[in-house]
Amino acid sequence: MKQICMLINARDVIARIRPEIYGHFAEHLGRCVYGGIYVGEDSAIPHVNGIRTDVVEAFRNIRVPTIRWPGGCFAEEYHWKDGVGPKDKRRRMVNINWGGVVEDNSFGTHEYMELCRQVGCKPYINGNVGSGTVQEMAEWVEYMTAEGTPMAEWRRANGQSDPWKLEFLGVGNENWGCGGEMTAETYAAHFRRFGAFCRDHNGNRLCRIACGPSSADYGWMETIMKSLSRGWGGYPLAGGVDLHYYTMPIHPQMDSATDFDDKLHYATMESAAFVDELLTRHTEIMNRYDPENRVGLVIGEWGCWHQVEPGTNPGFLYQQNAMRDALVAAIHLNAFNRHSRRVMMANLAQTVNVLQAVLLTDGDRLVKTPTYHVFDLFKAHQEGTAVYCYTDSEKAAEGCRADMVSSSASVLDGVMTITLSNCSLTETVEIACDVCHFSASQVRARILTADTHAFNDFDHPEDVVIRPHTAEYARGRLCVTLPPCSVAEVTLS
Ligand code: AHR
Repeated sequence: MKQICMLINARDVIARIRPEIYGHFAEHLGRCVYGGIYVGEDSAIPHVNGIRTDVVEAFRNIRVPTIRWPGGCFAEEYHWKDGVGPKDKRRRMVNINWGGVVEDNSFGTHEYMELCRQVGCKPYINGNVGSGTVQEMAEWVEYMTAEGTPMAEWRRANGQSDPWKLEFLGVGNENWGCGGEMTAETYAAHFRRFGAFCRDHNGNRLCRIACGPSSADYGWMETIMKSLSRGWGGYPLAGGVDLHYYTMPIHPQMDSATDFDDKLHYATMESAAFVDELLTRHTEIMNRYDPENRVGLVIGEWGCWHQVEPGTNPGFLYQQNAMRDALVAAIHLNAFNRHSRRVMMANLAQTVNVLQAVLLTDGDRLVKTPTYHVFDLFKAHQEGTAVYCYTDSEKAAEGCRADMVSSSASVLDGVMTITLSNCSLTETVEIACDVCHFSASQVRARILTADTHAFNDFDHPEDVVIRPHTAEYARGRLCVTLPPCSVAEVTLS
């Protein structure tokens, strides 16, 4: 048993935790949209307007605040006009990036907005810079948000008379790679043109999100901030910069999602924990160009990238999701909370059936992965105020640079939510936490714990689920025990 001390100071405020930090990502990739989210109006699987009821219910339960769409690399080949109007007239295309399958465009702008309506989340549309035009993206924004213009009339003719609200507009995706192999300088110049002509119609205010760096490409961040943090008139051109970082301790084709050794478990924790350094260093650059904190850091793609499940299409990125992935999720979400002064949004890749999915489907069956349950344990942080939380953790194992325990805390309406993870394979941790400047009389705890290889599948959907847990609290001192491989939520009220 390891004893670890913690300190939470409720008066030492970091920032409001924007709900979008708990966001998700759905690309036209494999069975994420088609079969995972959307089954069409004629499906025997229970749905509303073609969108799976079980998926919507599951999303609502974890309070999904936003879903980034339509990609990813797919966004850079997507032409939105192909996906509106009568379905039998929609142009087909080949999804070159992901398996070379035929995309029939039956899920387009209207279907996506309907998904957001059912889930109760904000849209986050990613536009096409690499193979699209300024006019095409500008017209998409007009189609969605204007009134009384040619595009708005077309939208009305297609069945939607009221404009939608659109806050988040991604201007390109991974333009250093699949989005056009650009240099940061070239991309920044493109952003200025695209951003300028995507207008704020009708009182709709766009937050234009620039393509950010891959992982530790600090040079990309520097150039983007230099060019886009101050436009004509002094206001930032970009409202956000979108960093992508995947947990990949070894080449994904070598890393089975469920069959790995202890060394790889700890390498995965180390790769996940690196996100804290990334957030710190990218924030330092952003602080230099934007001391007023007007440009948010978005982590538009994050999560584990493993080998695909044997026998599945390698282009579909369908992988299982074990307790190891749940620990990775907890390490990231705790880091996002701690960095919430700069982090405005994050989107786990990807919602259903792709990469570190929260849900897996097979026909009409649905499974909630361990990662789904982490989002359930963390959901009370949304809209809370992140407060200082220090954990005197030792390293997870000899030679591993990840801390054994990750943590964060927030306060909302007089309730403190503390989330913790223990990524040791062997050690039980006894946490003794001093909670300063906060008064509470009740403590409640929930836990997700299992062997690092454990997962849920269609025959065993509840092998890894949240269970009630015990914790003690008296006179500002919280005591809670974390078994090996566990994620917990403690609530003080
Ligand atoms: O999430 C899968 C892919 O990973 C996305 O399409 C791309 O943006 C990233 O490289």
